[in-house]
Amino acid sequence: MAKELHVGDCVVRLHRGDITQMAVDAIVNAANSSLMGGGGVDGAIHRAGGPEILEECKRIPQGPGGRCPTGQAVVTGAGKLKAKYVIHTVGPVWHGGKKGEDELLKRAYHHSLMRAEERDCNSVAFPSISTGAYRFPIEKASRIAVETIVEFLRERKTPKEVVLVLFSERDYRVYARVFASMAEETQQEEEKERG
Ligand code: APR
Repeated sequence: MAKELHVGDCVVRLHRGDITQMAVDAIVNAANSSLMGGGGVDGAIHRAGGPEILEECKRIPQGPGGRCPTGQAVVTGAGKLKAKYVIHTVGPVWHGGKKGEDELLKRAYHHSLMRAEERDCNSVAFPSISTGAYRFPIEKASRIAVETIVEFLRERKTPKEVVLVLFSERDYRVYARVFASMAEETQQEEEKERG
Protein backbone atom coordinates (compact mmCIF):
# COMPACT_ATOMS: atom_id res chain seq x y z
CA MET A 1 0.00 0.00 0.00
CA ALA A 2 1.25 3.50 -0.84
CA LYS A 3 3.07 4.99 2.14
CA GLU A 4 3.82 8.28 0.45
CA LEU A 5 2.16 10.71 -1.95
CA HIS A 6 4.22 13.08 -4.11
CA VAL A 7 2.75 16.52 -4.82
CA GLY A 8 5.20 18.40 -7.03
CA ASP A 9 8.43 18.61 -5.00
CA CYS A 10 6.59 17.89 -1.77
CA VAL A 11 5.90 14.53 -0.17
CA VAL A 12 3.21 13.33 2.26
CA ARG A 13 4.28 10.26 4.25
CA LEU A 14 2.57 7.80 6.58
CA HIS A 15 4.42 6.80 9.74
CA ARG A 16 3.35 4.39 12.46
CA GLY A 17 4.62 5.57 15.84
CA ASP A 18 4.72 8.23 18.55
CA ILE A 19 4.67 11.82 17.30
CA THR A 20 6.76 13.03 20.27
CA GLN A 21 9.73 11.11 18.79
CA MET A 22 9.58 12.76 15.37
CA ALA A 23 12.64 14.75 14.27
CA VAL A 24 10.77 17.34 12.17
CA ASP A 25 10.64 21.14 12.30
CA ALA A 26 7.13 21.20 13.78
CA ILE A 27 4.78 18.69 15.32
CA VAL A 28 1.06 19.36 15.48
CA ASN A 29 -0.82 18.84 18.73
CA ALA A 30 -4.50 17.87 18.84
CA ALA A 31 -5.30 20.26 21.67
CA ASN A 32 -8.44 21.74 23.20
CA SER A 33 -9.36 25.41 23.13
CA SER A 34 -8.01 26.10 26.62
CA LEU A 35 -4.52 24.91 25.56
CA MET A 36 -4.07 23.71 29.16
CA GLY A 37 -3.18 20.15 28.11
CA GLY A 38 -5.22 16.98 28.30
CA GLY A 39 -4.95 13.29 27.53
CA GLY A 40 -4.12 11.52 24.27
CA VAL A 41 -1.53 13.13 22.03
CA ASP A 42 -1.94 16.44 23.92
CA GLY A 43 -0.87 14.77 27.15
CA ALA A 44 1.98 12.93 25.42
CA ILE A 45 3.40 16.13 23.90
CA HIS A 46 3.27 18.06 27.19
CA ARG A 47 4.82 15.14 29.08
CA ALA A 48 7.64 14.67 26.58
CA GLY A 49 8.19 18.38 25.89
CA GLY A 50 8.14 19.49 29.50
CA PRO A 51 6.50 22.38 31.40
CA GLU A 52 7.83 25.20 29.23
CA ILE A 53 5.31 24.34 26.50
CA LEU A 54 2.43 24.84 28.95
CA GLU A 55 4.05 28.04 30.28
CA GLU A 56 4.09 29.42 26.74
CA CYS A 57 0.46 28.33 26.17
CA LYS A 58 -0.56 30.27 29.27
CA ARG A 59 0.89 33.44 27.72
CA ILE A 60 -1.46 33.16 24.73
CA PRO A 61 -4.35 35.56 25.43
CA GLN A 62 -7.82 34.15 26.10
CA GLY A 63 -10.37 35.03 23.40
CA PRO A 64 -14.11 34.31 23.03
CA GLY A 65 -13.26 30.80 21.75
CA GLY A 66 -10.60 30.19 24.43
CA ARG A 67 -6.87 30.57 23.63
CA CYS A 68 -7.37 28.65 20.38
CA PRO A 69 -10.87 28.43 18.84
CA THR A 70 -11.83 25.21 17.05
CA GLY A 71 -10.30 25.09 13.57
CA GLN A 72 -7.56 27.59 14.43
CA ALA A 73 -3.86 26.94 15.20
CA VAL A 74 -1.25 28.64 17.38
CA VAL A 75 2.48 28.01 17.80
CA THR A 76 4.78 27.53 20.80
CA GLY A 77 8.31 26.29 21.23
CA ALA A 78 8.80 22.54 21.63
CA GLY A 79 10.65 22.37 24.98
CA LYS A 80 12.66 19.13 25.18
CA LEU A 81 11.21 17.66 21.96
CA LYS A 82 13.41 17.20 18.85
CA ALA A 83 11.11 19.55 16.92
CA LYS A 84 11.53 23.35 16.90
CA TYR A 85 7.84 24.15 17.23
CA VAL A 86 4.59 22.68 18.47
CA ILE A 87 1.60 23.83 16.44
CA HIS A 88 -1.46 23.51 18.68
CA THR A 89 -4.67 23.09 16.75
CA VAL A 90 -8.18 22.28 17.92
CA GLY A 91 -10.23 19.87 15.88
CA PRO A 92 -14.02 19.58 16.11
CA VAL A 93 -15.83 17.27 18.49
CA TRP A 94 -17.97 14.89 16.40
CA HIS A 95 -21.69 15.60 16.89
CA GLY A 96 -23.03 13.45 14.07
CA GLY A 97 -21.73 15.48 11.13
CA LYS A 98 -24.38 18.19 10.90
CA LYS A 99 -22.56 20.91 12.86
CA GLY A 100 -19.91 21.82 10.29
CA GLU A 101 -17.44 19.26 11.65
CA ASP A 102 -15.96 18.46 8.21
CA GLU A 103 -15.19 22.13 7.49
CA LEU A 104 -13.74 22.69 10.99
CA LEU A 105 -11.45 19.68 10.64
CA LYS A 106 -10.29 20.93 7.23
CA ARG A 107 -9.56 24.35 8.79
CA ALA A 108 -7.52 22.76 11.59
CA TYR A 109 -5.22 21.08 9.04
CA HIS A 110 -5.12 24.16 6.79
CA HIS A 111 -4.33 26.64 9.59
CA SER A 112 -1.67 24.30 11.03
CA LEU A 113 0.06 24.27 7.63
CA MET A 114 -0.22 28.07 7.43
CA ARG A 115 1.54 28.40 10.83
CA ALA A 116 4.25 26.03 9.57
CA GLU A 117 4.70 28.08 6.37
CA GLU A 118 4.92 31.33 8.39
CA ARG A 119 7.88 29.82 10.28
CA ASP A 120 9.59 28.40 7.20
CA CYS A 121 9.17 24.84 8.44
CA ASN A 122 10.40 22.27 5.93
CA SER A 123 8.87 19.30 7.69
CA VAL A 124 5.67 18.92 9.75
CA ALA A 125 4.20 15.90 11.56
CA PHE A 126 0.45 15.57 12.21
CA PRO A 127 -1.46 13.20 14.50
CA SER A 128 -4.89 12.04 13.41
CA ILE A 129 -6.76 15.11 14.66
CA SER A 130 -10.17 14.63 16.35
CA THR A 131 -10.30 10.83 15.87
CA GLY A 132 -9.64 9.98 19.53
CA ALA A 133 -11.50 11.63 22.39
CA TYR A 134 -13.36 13.85 19.90
CA ARG A 135 -14.79 10.73 18.22
CA PHE A 136 -14.61 11.96 14.61
CA PRO A 137 -15.01 8.84 12.39
CA ILE A 138 -11.47 8.05 11.25
CA GLU A 139 -12.40 6.91 7.71
CA LYS A 140 -13.93 10.33 7.01
CA ALA A 141 -11.27 12.25 8.98
CA SER A 142 -8.38 10.59 7.15
CA ARG A 143 -9.79 11.57 3.76
CA ILE A 144 -10.33 15.20 4.91
CA ALA A 145 -6.79 15.28 6.31
CA VAL A 146 -5.07 13.96 3.19
CA GLU A 147 -7.19 16.01 0.75
CA THR A 148 -6.57 19.23 2.73
CA ILE A 149 -2.82 18.61 2.95
CA VAL A 150 -2.49 17.69 -0.75
CA GLU A 151 -4.51 20.78 -1.77
CA PHE A 152 -2.28 23.04 0.39
CA LEU A 153 0.96 21.55 -1.02
CA ARG A 154 -0.32 21.86 -4.58
CA GLU A 155 -1.08 25.58 -4.06
CA ARG A 156 1.71 26.66 -1.67
CA LYS A 157 4.47 24.12 -2.50
CA THR A 158 5.52 24.08 1.16
CA PRO A 159 6.35 22.40 3.55
CA LYS A 160 8.45 19.92 1.60
CA GLU A 161 7.58 17.03 3.90
CA VAL A 162 4.38 16.26 5.79
CA VAL A 163 4.26 13.12 7.93
CA LEU A 164 1.00 11.67 9.21
CA VAL A 165 1.91 9.84 12.42
CA LEU A 166 -0.52 7.08 13.36
CA PHE A 167 -0.31 5.71 16.88
CA SER A 168 -2.19 2.46 16.29
CA GLU A 169 -1.97 -0.20 13.58
CA ARG A 170 -5.70 0.17 12.99
CA ASP A 171 -5.41 3.93 12.35
CA TYR A 172 -2.40 3.31 10.12
CA ARG A 173 -4.35 0.85 7.97
CA VAL A 174 -7.24 3.31 7.52
CA TYR A 175 -4.87 6.04 6.32
CA ALA A 176 -2.99 3.59 4.07
CA ARG A 177 -6.25 2.79 2.26
CA VAL A 178 -6.93 6.50 1.69
CA PHE A 179 -3.37 6.92 0.45
CA ALA A 180 -3.75 4.06 -2.01
CA SER A 181 -6.94 5.50 -3.49
CA MET A 182 -5.52 9.03 -3.57
CA ALA A 183 -2.19 7.92 -5.04
CA GLU A 184 -4.07 6.96 -8.19
CA GLU A 185 -5.99 10.25 -8.25
CA THR A 186 -2.82 12.30 -7.61
CA GLN A 187 -0.95 10.36 -10.31
CA GLN A 188 -3.71 11.14 -12.81
CA GLU A 189 -3.67 14.85 -11.78
CA GLU A 190 0.11 15.04 -12.28
CA GLU A 191 -0.11 13.30 -15.68
CA LYS A 192 -2.89 15.71 -16.71
CA GLU A 193 -0.72 18.67 -15.63
CA ARG A 194 2.23 17.28 -17.59
CA GLY A 195 -0.12 17.02 -20.56
N1 APR B 1 1.56 10.07 18.87
C1 APR B 1 0.73 10.10 17.79
N2 APR B 1 -0.61 9.96 17.88
C2 APR B 1 -1.13 9.78 19.12
C3 APR B 1 -0.34 9.75 20.29
C4 APR B 1 1.06 9.90 20.13
N3 APR B 1 1.90 9.88 21.16
N4 APR B 1 -1.18 9.55 21.36
C5 APR B 1 -2.43 9.46 20.86
N5 APR B 1 -2.41 9.58 19.52
C6 APR B 1 -3.52 9.53 18.56
C7 APR B 1 -4.77 8.80 19.01
O1 APR B 1 -4.58 7.41 18.85
C8 APR B 1 -5.78 9.37 18.03
O2 APR B 1 -5.73 8.64 16.81
O3 APR B 1 -3.95 10.85 18.33
C9 APR B 1 -5.25 10.79 17.74
C10 APR B 1 -6.09 11.90 18.32
O4 APR B 1 -6.64 11.47 19.57
P1 APR B 1 -6.70 12.46 20.84
O5 APR B 1 -5.33 12.68 21.33
O6 APR B 1 -7.73 11.90 21.76
O7 APR B 1 -7.17 13.85 20.22
P2 APR B 1 -8.63 14.34 19.76
O8 APR B 1 -9.52 13.22 19.35
O9 APR B 1 -8.35 15.44 18.77
O10 APR B 1 -9.25 14.95 21.10
C11 APR B 1 -8.66 16.13 21.61
O11 APR B 1 -8.40 15.16 23.78
O12 APR B 1 -6.40 14.96 24.87
C12 APR B 1 -7.53 15.74 24.77
O13 APR B 1 -6.80 17.94 25.34
C13 APR B 1 -7.22 17.12 24.26
O14 APR B 1 -9.43 17.91 24.73
C14 APR B 1 -8.56 17.51 23.70
C15 APR B 1 -9.05 16.22 23.07
